[in-house]
Amino acid sequence: MQKKRAVNIGLLGMGTIGSGVAGNLLAKSKTLARQAGSPLSLKMVAETDTSKHALPGLQQSVFTADYRQVVYNSDIDIVIELIGGEHPAVDYIKEALKNGKHVVTANKEVMAKHGTELLSLAQQNHVGLRFEASVGGGIPLISPFQRDLVANDIQAIYAILNGTTNYILTRMAHDNLDFNVALKQAQKLGYAEANPANDIGGLDAAYKLAILTSLGFDMDVNFEEVFYEGISRLNPRDFRYASEFGYAIKLLAIAKRSGKLVEARVHPVLIPAESLLAKVDGVYNAIYVIGDLVGNVLFYGQGAGPSATSSAVIADIINIAQNINARRDNAPRFIPEKTSGIQSISDIQTRYYFRMEILDQPGVLAQISAVMGNHMISIASVIQKESDPSTRTAEIVIMTHPASENEVQKAIKVINKLGVVKEISNFIRVEAI
Ligand code: HSE
Repeated sequence: MQKKRAVNIGLLGMGTIGSGVAGNLLAKSKTLARQAGSPLSLKMVAETDTSKHALPGLQQSVFTADYRQVVYNSDIDIVIELIGGEHPAVDYIKEALKNGKHVVTANKEVMAKHGTELLSLAQQNHVGLRFEASVGGGIPLISPFQRDLVANDIQAIYAILNGTTNYILTRMAHDNLDFNVALKQAQKLGYAEANPANDIGGLDAAYKLAILTSLGFDMDVNFEEVFYEGISRLNPRDFRYASEFGYAIKLLAIAKRSGKLVEARVHPVLIPAESLLAKVDGVYNAIYVIGDLVGNVLFYGQGAGPSATSSAVIADIINIAQNINARRDNAPRFIPEKTSGIQSISDIQTRYYFRMEILDQPGVLAQISAVMGNHMISIASVIQKESDPSTRTAEIVIMTHPASENEVQKAIKVINKLGVVKEISNFIRVEAI
């Protein structure tokens, strides 16, 4: 039998993930060739930072600072984009697809903002576009949503999609650490990025949620409509009080059906302490999916890091190489048809937890509950926590029944103006999962 020619790969970006993928492609070349049906040859690596032009086992001639030597190289079959960020990554991907290259990317921002356009471009050019590593690192998610779960109407996705924040929240909950101390520890251990703003602000998880929502609900999600809020307002006291009510606090990415629309939001949430997601600690990610046929499915694993991400990127490469070798089409089959139908955050209905500092004197609760009543917010329970006799203030925690976010926001404005309320220290949405 004629020996199959190698499938040639060009890599864009030699950062932590890029060098992890390149290193694993070399180290596992024999087994990967068997899986792919032919050798996988890393032909060219484009990286603008020339200090990164080195990897044991790769010749110096493989490295270039010019992406065009990858994207326009007629020898290259598959372009791996591991540059990250929106530009120039999205531009290079478009050029590669138009130039007939299959593309594998780990880029959540690009796929969240341009996914449908890029998938259409790949389809028009009869090439593959795979992005398994863009959500949940090494946890298989994209492929299960595109294949194994397609018979389902997805009802909801509840997910911990950011390891850095899950680590921080775990330390705040279990070790009573302040947010800033827990963040410093995450940075020291190398979990948080040097600039962790996208992680702690919820943006990283929002990109990933937009991708999963698009797949799960077959929808061209307009990323601008995905609501996100970070974790920096949380205080160790919130974790203590939540635990007294039987809840844990997690930064959840939630997508669920709401009539004809879909809720898509990322924010801290009180969830029952006995739920599976409440038990996901440290840097781990977990994705809980509810489908009409399959019921509940939980994916759990490492959502970041060069090894876990290599697992997903290399699986995508092998899939494309198998199709090339079998002369099968690699073009994406499913491109979301429905335009975005994301429900505005102000239209959601959920339960709320409030922590407030109030004057410790008669009639204060009556004033607060009157405002809540005027906004159709029904109080489920109130607990008075610490009081400070020197300032005659007290801290109270209120749990509500389901209420409208719009009304809650209006009530917050009125309560903040009550002379007896020093501050609303925090309010957190509650989910009964
Ligand atoms: N910074 C992300 C996290 C990993 O902490 O989970 C990359 O998406």
